[in-house]
Amino acid sequence: MKGVVAVTGASGYVGSWLIMKLLREGYTVRATVRDPSNEGKIRPLLDLPGSEERLSIWKADLDKEGSFDEVVKGCEGVFHVATPMDFESKDPENEIIKPTVSGMLSIMRSCKEAGTVRRVVFTSSAGTVNVQEQQMADYDEQSWSDMEFCRRVKMTGWMYFVSKTLAEKAAMEFSQEHGIHFISIIPTLVVGPFITTTMPPSMITALSLITGNEAHYTILKQVQLVHLDDLCDAHIFLYEHPGAEGRFICSSDDRTIYDLAKMFRDRYPQYIIPQEFEGIDEKIGRVHFSSKKLTGLGFEFKYSVEDMFDSAIEACLEKQLLPLQTVEKEQQSSEVLKKTVASERGNESNGQMVLLA
Ligand SMILES: NC(=O)c1ccc[n+]([C@@H]2O[C@H](COP(=O)([O-])OP(=O)(O)OC[C@H]3O[C@@H](n4cnc5c(N)ncnc54)[C@H](OP(=O)(O)O)[C@@H]3O)[C@@H](O)[C@H]2O)c1
Repeated sequence: MKGVVAVTGASGYVGSWLIMKLLREGYTVRATVRDPSNEGKIRPLLDLPGSEERLSIWKADLDKEGSFDEVVKGCEGVFHVATPMDFESKDPENEIIKPTVSGMLSIMRSCKEAGTVRRVVFTSSAGTVNVQEQQMADYDEQSWSDMEFCRRVKMTGWMYFVSKTLAEKAAMEFSQEHGIHFISIIPTLVVGPFITTTMPPSMITALSLITGNEAHYTILKQVQLVHLDDLCDAHIFLYEHPGAEGRFICSSDDRTIYDLAKMFRDRYPQYIIPQEFEGIDEKIGRVHFSSKKLTGLGFEFKYSVEDMFDSAIEACLEKQLLPLQTVEKEQQSSEVLKKTVASERGNESNGQMVLLA
């Protein structure tokens, strides 16, 4: 039997899978959500093997100072996974950036207060690393995104990149001042199966070549990827590794949108996949995120890019979040069922129509 750990953002894509793996490993898990009465979000957690004996659900909100005090008390570890991710926010400074940074610090203060926490593991983001005017071919943990560039250009998701960067830096500073052991994991685009009932935000991006959600093509232009299961294994690996210090990129592969389009066309012939992308040079190169620091400690990635998409598509089909196949526009007829796929928060996928053939 392992110790007691807290996981924030428990009902999300990464949080729920991480909890499944922690329970499997023998940990006792305190899972935080904003609304414990939301049966649809909580049920997949309660149905996990081991949950009856070793899972408890706690209410906590990054917007409320002191919200994590009780849940953290007595924990040996904290996995801070939660993050506000509404790219459409009308007030990004107050709705995204402020709660992400102040919530992170509030958790660090709760850990200090508790005095029992051995290590805090923060799920950071590739958005803290390479959002810069000039893309380099290779990135490692030394690199930080350019905040001035984000705030000036205001590209899709800029508030998310700023929020994660400022939160990670603030937590590092706090950990040094107050002696709380803090490490961050930097996942690239996370793809794979899921136990949530709604379409995870990153799946909306990952499967946009199938759904035709063009707004997400820029994210796939030069994308790096990691399987959800590998990412959660890396969280536990680093939490347990006595030598883990600082930031860790967790990314197993990289592709261009043209690579992905070709792979999708060959591997999933049931879907119509665009092969040309206006404004994106066909000869564009891949951008690599190095996970050498993580693998140097002995971590091994288990999954290929094909595994990521096979399992993501399978999970979506099981939950009827994707059509079995797509049909040419001119073949669309009244008997074709239309289904709106909307994420629970109803942000990125609002109004997105897909065809259930
Ligand atoms: N998925 C990816 O491709 C990817 C890539 C890089 C980094 N990450 C990082 O991985 C983490 C998890 O992302 P995800 O993909 O699992 O997203 P997700 O499914 O949207 O989960 C995020 C969770 O954060 C919680 N949350 C949002 N605002 C909150 C607030 N004010 N207070 C408390 N909780 C709040 C939500 O909980 P409620 O249930 O209460 O709404 C939600 O369950 C994030 O830190 C993200 O930055 C993800």
